[in-house]
Amino acid sequence: MREPLPKMGLTKKRANPILSIFKRDTRRIFTRILTTMERTLLIVKPDAVAQNVIGEIIRRLEAKNFRVAELKMTRLTREQAAEFYVVHRQRPFYNDLLNFMTSGPCVPMVLERENAVSFLRETIGSTNPAEAAEGTIRKDFATDIQNNAVHASDSRENAAGEVAFFFA
Ligand code: CMP
Repeated sequence: MREPLPKMGLTKKRANPILSIFKRDTRRIFTRILTTMERTLLIVKPDAVAQNVIGEIIRRLEAKNFRVAELKMTRLTREQAAEFYVVHRQRPFYNDLLNFMTSGPCVPMVLERENAVSFLRETIGSTNPAEAAEGTIRKDFATDIQNNAVHASDSRENAAGEVAFFFA
């Protein structure tokens, strides 16, 4: 008697033995999460470091399913701050921004999550804390539009550049 041909499904299962133990809909959800996982940059700025809220900010981010992939504490030189914020060099607040960002240590970190870039921007709130939504990080920890506790990348393209700036 001839051996029965293997079913198509069996071939698929062998190709992906971990996902194959889950039902089809669950596999689809996993696949979707894996394919839209993003990395973005968050900086806990010198004002938030001085307030002793690094841990509280990370706790809130982890509670929203961000994973801290890289992290360090560093004090930016004026040249580094100028380069990081070069896009704002013509703005009237540029010089004060550099003074602020070099006034003490900051904590840049790489965060991973599904739709990390847009979800992090939502989580931190508006640049100006007076306009930030209740429960956002800037609403709770920022002092004003400059001393606004945290920075987050504003697009996937900028996220890649900003991650490389601190963690190349
Ligand atoms: P951030 O999200 O890091 O991006 C640029 C930074 O410039 C911003 O947060 C603030 O710290 C600062 N900034 C933006 N707009 C103003 C403003 N109108 N006056 C002073 N500082 C500002």
